Amino acid sequence: MRKQVIVGNWKMFKTNSSAIKFVENVDSKIQSRDDLVVGIAAPSVMLSDLTKKAKNLKIAAQNCYFEKEGAFTGEVSIPMLQEIGVEYVIIGHSERRDIFGENDDLLNNKVKALLAANMSPILCCGESLSIYESGKTMDHVKKQISSDLSGVSADDVKKVVIAYEPIWAIGTGKVATPEIAQEVCKGIREHLASLYSQEVADEVSIQYGGSVKPENIKDILAQSDIDGTLVGGASLVEDSFLGLIK
Ligand code: PGA
Repeated sequence: MRKQVIVGNWKMFKTNSSAIKFVENVDSKIQSRDDLVVGIAAPSVMLSDLTKKAKNLKIAAQNCYFEKEGAFTGEVSIPMLQEIGVEYVIIGHSERRDIFGENDDLLNNKVKALLAANMSPILCCGESLSIYESGKTMDHVKKQISSDLSGVSADDVKKVVIAYEPIWAIGTGKVATPEIAQEVCKGIREHLASLYSQEVADEVSIQYGGSVKPENIKDILAQSDIDGTLVGGASLVEDSFLGLIK
């Protein structure tokens, strides 16, 4: 059975003290279950304190570099994250791709390095508005996934969480309808089945992300190929975050 994975992506918001307060208030209200992961992807400076505070919430990172150590000013390594108890790392968010120029070769290296460390990448994919409007969403997303998972074994890919995030729906209030999100997530699962096997594809958790809120999460999660959500804005306020989990 694949897991349901609901993760808040805090992006570059909050400071350490406000993040600690949030986790102190929210953690005891989250159920820890084998088939459900509820997490927060926080800025790296907060991760060490938050992993100490969280018992039920999984504290995830928003990025990492693939080399173990070295002269890479400003980067955070996988051993650094692993030592403080981080298990999930967002890879290839569209903001990293678009603003910081991360390409599929780099992301493939990050995915492979995380899997080699027995950690789970939350691998983001998704199309721009112009690609969506030209009807090329599936081609684009399939190409991203094939490149980012190149060389990843069938056993390892089961640890990857794929987050489908149409760029036109991120932070815009324009949520893809549950039907559109389902169609793309189903297409992603079919693509995984063609790259691996149906059995493997059925074990991979696929999230939808983009303007998810307490008011629309239920309809999104009701879709058969959507196993969770990656949530930006609505994860920043305690009540709204808890509203997503209800
Ligand atoms: P949003 O962001 O929920 O604010 O649209 C989602 C994301 O970027 O992961």
